[in-house]
Amino acid sequence: MCGIVGYVGNKNAQDFLISGLKRLEYRGYDSAGIVTLDKDGNATLLRAKGKIINLEEKLAKNKREDKIGIGHTRWATHGEPSETNAHPHQAGDIYLVHNGIIENYKELKATLTEHEFKSETDTEVLAALVESFYQGGAHPLINAVVQALKLVKGTYGIAVVSTKAPDEIVVARAGSPLVIGVGHDETLIASDASALVGHTKQAIYLNDGEVALIHKDSIEIKTLNAEPVSAKVEMIETNLAAIQKGGYEHFLLKEIMEQPESLKETLRGRVNLETGTVRLGGPGLSEEKLRKIKHLVIVGCGTAYHAGLLAGYYIEQFTPEITIETVIASEYRYRSAYIPKDSVALIVSQSGETADTLACLREIKKQGVPTIGIVNAIGSTIAREVDGGTYVHVGPEISVASTKAFTSQMIAMVMFGLTIAQAKGVKPGVLYPYIKEIANLPEMIRKTLEQVHDDVKRVAEAHKKYEHAIYLGRDTAYPAAMEGALKLKEISYVDANAYAFGELKHGPLALIDDRFLEFALVPKGPLFDKAISNVQEVLARGGHVIVVTNTDFDLPVEDVIRIPGEIEHFAPMLMNLVSQLFAYYMTVAKGYNVDQPRNLAKSVTVE
Ligand code: F6R
Repeated sequence: MCGIVGYVGNKNAQDFLISGLKRLEYRGYDSAGIVTLDKDGNATLLRAKGKIINLEEKLAKNKREDKIGIGHTRWATHGEPSETNAHPHQAGDIYLVHNGIIENYKELKATLTEHEFKSETDTEVLAALVESFYQGGAHPLINAVVQALKLVKGTYGIAVVSTKAPDEIVVARAGSPLVIGVGHDETLIASDASALVGHTKQAIYLNDGEVALIHKDSIEIKTLNAEPVSAKVEMIETNLAAIQKGGYEHFLLKEIMEQPESLKETLRGRVNLETGTVRLGGPGLSEEKLRKIKHLVIVGCGTAYHAGLLAGYYIEQFTPEITIETVIASEYRYRSAYIPKDSVALIVSQSGETADTLACLREIKKQGVPTIGIVNAIGSTIAREVDGGTYVHVGPEISVASTKAFTSQMIAMVMFGLTIAQAKGVKPGVLYPYIKEIANLPEMIRKTLEQVHDDVKRVAEAHKKYEHAIYLGRDTAYPAAMEGALKLKEISYVDANAYAFGELKHGPLALIDDRFLEFALVPKGPLFDKAISNVQEVLARGGHVIVVTNTDFDLPVEDVIRIPGEIEHFAPMLMNLVSQLFAYYMTVAKGYNVDQPRNLAKSVTVE
């Protein structure tokens, strides 16, 4: 979603702002803008609708040597995507960029009669509110910002500059991330550490309710109540290679292909084949607490939700007396759900910033239930607010569609399930087959991707005319089918839905005709024959079926994509690699934007 960058130092601010905004492009946006100040406070404001390239065209005609500035990529919430609604917004001497939503902006706007509003945004209201306290520089900028924020209801990450103080930036956060990069004689700001990579390795993550006064050589942080905060400087672990395409045409393909390595990172030091055990340090639950767990609530959105669903199927296979409920965060946060005693909640999020997931975390904590994060982004809000957690360590996921995170989230949750089962005294003979497969998965993912790649590309190109698709699976292949359908719909805009095979006769079978293709995940196992007869039923009604399997069968389907047969339990996870590649090649064949699908954002920080 929206992105913020800022710079104060000795270098060209426009250069950093544009390169920083480009790093944040992956989050999704519809307009962009920057403002820089020269040493006398003269401002150069540049804004453009659409891609950053449009902003660069304006920049080419307005090059400046300014050493301070702020920038923004906007994802419209209040008011259409347009140059006027793009940030930074100006009010008098103030320029302000903002991520989040000011909920009481209408009430505030009604009081700001002196300001002539030009945009439809809540952000301009905030700029005008700061200006009303700033009064042309009569008060320090930070004081004006604090006074304004005390009146605000909602979420924000903001950066503010003033033409009257052209050597300082004020930033603040409540519910929307802000990172301060500490450099040599320069200070940088971003809403996402990836914009800072290559500039500095040292970062301060602002907490909710904090405000910072930033100069090129100093950072002072305090709370809105004026209590000083001693900042913790943390290392940015990401390197440049991790946020570049590395020779691939798209980030999505790179991220699909790097899953053998990213899963290895998730497993590192956590799986011991010699002892046949799994060890996760992060959750921080004692053996006794693990033994007592009777109920797991797994919370996430979209792909993270699917990872939780699939993990739940596995955990209940090998853990006695456990009830698992996997829930969609945007629904759960408003339900009156009762969480029984001896429960633990798993909070699943790649970005660690998803607004609905974060809201659930806070609700669940209020009930006194221990919360465990399954998070990728280090230092993110969810990672910091959970009671314990397991980072999945897949590195930055840049493409909007989540791929490598799904695989690692799912396995990280299964590993957590295994630690519960171990504590409950489940026989090693029951757990070992799962642990052995997990240890082999990175290699099996590599083998699968290599084996299926050309076939999937061919099959996707052959089916590019389809606008409707049904994904089908039973048991563990069902959540995998749900994830496959989500991938296809979000990037290739095919109307794709998933059904459990057994549900076909209860409605969806009526859909089968020449407009639809069916993508069936059929692993060998106890339900194989049942799934094959379901495929037969679809074929009998003229279906166009593509089967993904790890075994042989004899049916006149349109295409078969075979994955390696060595993996039994986690075969649906390998099948999901096929779905990922299929969605990728379908999107390329249809000619759509693979990494930044329309209307979507990478990290959904508003409700
Ligand atoms: C789909 C996708 C989304 C995210 C969802 C949750 O490819 O990327 O469905 O999975 O928005 O995001 P996180 O995991 O960051 O909470």
